[in-house]
Amino acid sequence: MYNLLKGKKGIIFGALDEKSIAWKVAERAKEEGAEFVLTNAPIAMRMGSIKELSEKTGAEIIPADATSMEDLTNLVEKSMEILGGKLDFVLHSIGMSVNVRKGKHYTDSNYDFTMKGFDVSALSFHKLMNVLYNKKAMNEWGSIVALTYMAAQRVFPDYNDMADNKAYLESIARSFGYFFGKEHKVRVNTISQSPTVTTAGSGVKGFEGFFNYAEKMSPLGNATALECADYTISLFSDLTKKVTMQNLFHDGGFSNMGISESIMKDF
Ligand SMILES: NC(=O)c1ccc[n+]([C@@H]2O[C@H](COP(=O)([O-])OP(=O)(O)OC[C@H]3O[C@@H](n4cnc5c(N)ncnc54)[C@H](O)[C@@H]3O)[C@@H](O)[C@H]2O)c1
Repeated sequence: MYNLLKGKKGIIFGALDEKSIAWKVAERAKEEGAEFVLTNAPIAMRMGSIKELSEKTGAEIIPADATSMEDLTNLVEKSMEILGGKLDFVLHSIGMSVNVRKGKHYTDSNYDFTMKGFDVSALSFHKLMNVLYNKKAMNEWGSIVALTYMAAQRVFPDYNDMADNKAYLESIARSFGYFFGKEHKVRVNTISQSPTVTTAGSGVKGFEGFFNYAEKMSPLGNATALECADYTISLFSDLTKKVTMQNLFHDGGFSNMGISESIMKDF
C-alpha cells in the first residue's frame, strides 16, 4: 500500500455488509493509513454487519439517519471529537427508492414513496454538506465524494425514480462544489459506478440483465466494488487536489460505448 491517506480523517456512510461499496472503501482507507468514523441508518445497525467492519478497522460507529439534520449535526460534532480535529474526507454511499422496493412502476409512482427516496438518496447529500460547511468541519483540500449511476443521463427503465434522484445528487455536487471550493478549498465529486452486486444494486428489477449487458458492452468490463474503492481513495488523496464539481465515470468505458462486438454477436 502507498500511505495515500496517512494522517487523514474522515466519515464513511453506507457500509451495510461486506458487499457494500462503502465497506470496501473503509477497508482500503484503513490500508492507506486513514482514521475514520463509520455511520449508517439506525435500522441498518440491526440488519447489517457494520460492527464486524468496525472491529476490523478500529473505527467507531455513530448511527445517523442521513435525512435528519439533528443526526447529521451530532455525527459531525462527535466525529471531530473522536478523531481529534477537522475532516479530510467524507463518503456518501447511500441510496434507496421505496417505489423500487414496493414494485411501483415509474409511470404510476406513489409520491410519498418518491419523496422519501428523494430525501434519502439525494437531499441527504445537501443536508450533509450543509452541516459540514456551516460547522467548518472540513480541512482545506478535503474531499467529499458521493456515489451515483449513469441512469442520471440515460434511460434504464427499471431504475425507476432512482434515475431522477441521481440526477439531482449530481447537480448538488456541482452547486455545493462551487461554494465549498471557493470558501474552504474543498472538492466535491460524484463517481458514476458500474452495476455492482450489492444489496442496493441487486434490489433493482432485472439487475442481472443489465449487469451482464454492461459487462459485455464495456471494453474493460464492469468495475467491481473494490475497484470503485480504489478510485475513491485516489479522490480522497492529495493526488487529485484540483478535481472538483465533476461526475466521474468509473465503468470500464461503458458510458462512451454505442455498441460492442460482443453484444452484436447476440443479434
Ligand atoms: N450497486 C450498484 O449497482 C451501484 C451502481 C452505481 C451506484 N451505486 C450507488 O452506490 C451507493 C452505495 O450502494 P451499494 O451498492 O454499496 O449498496 P448498499 O445497499 O450496500 O448501500 C446502501 C446504503 O444506504 C444506506 N442507507 C439507506 N437509507 C439510509 C438513511 N436514511 N441514512 C443513512 N444511510 C442509509 C443503507 O443502510 C446502506 O448501507 C448508493 O448511492 C448506490 O446508489 C450502486
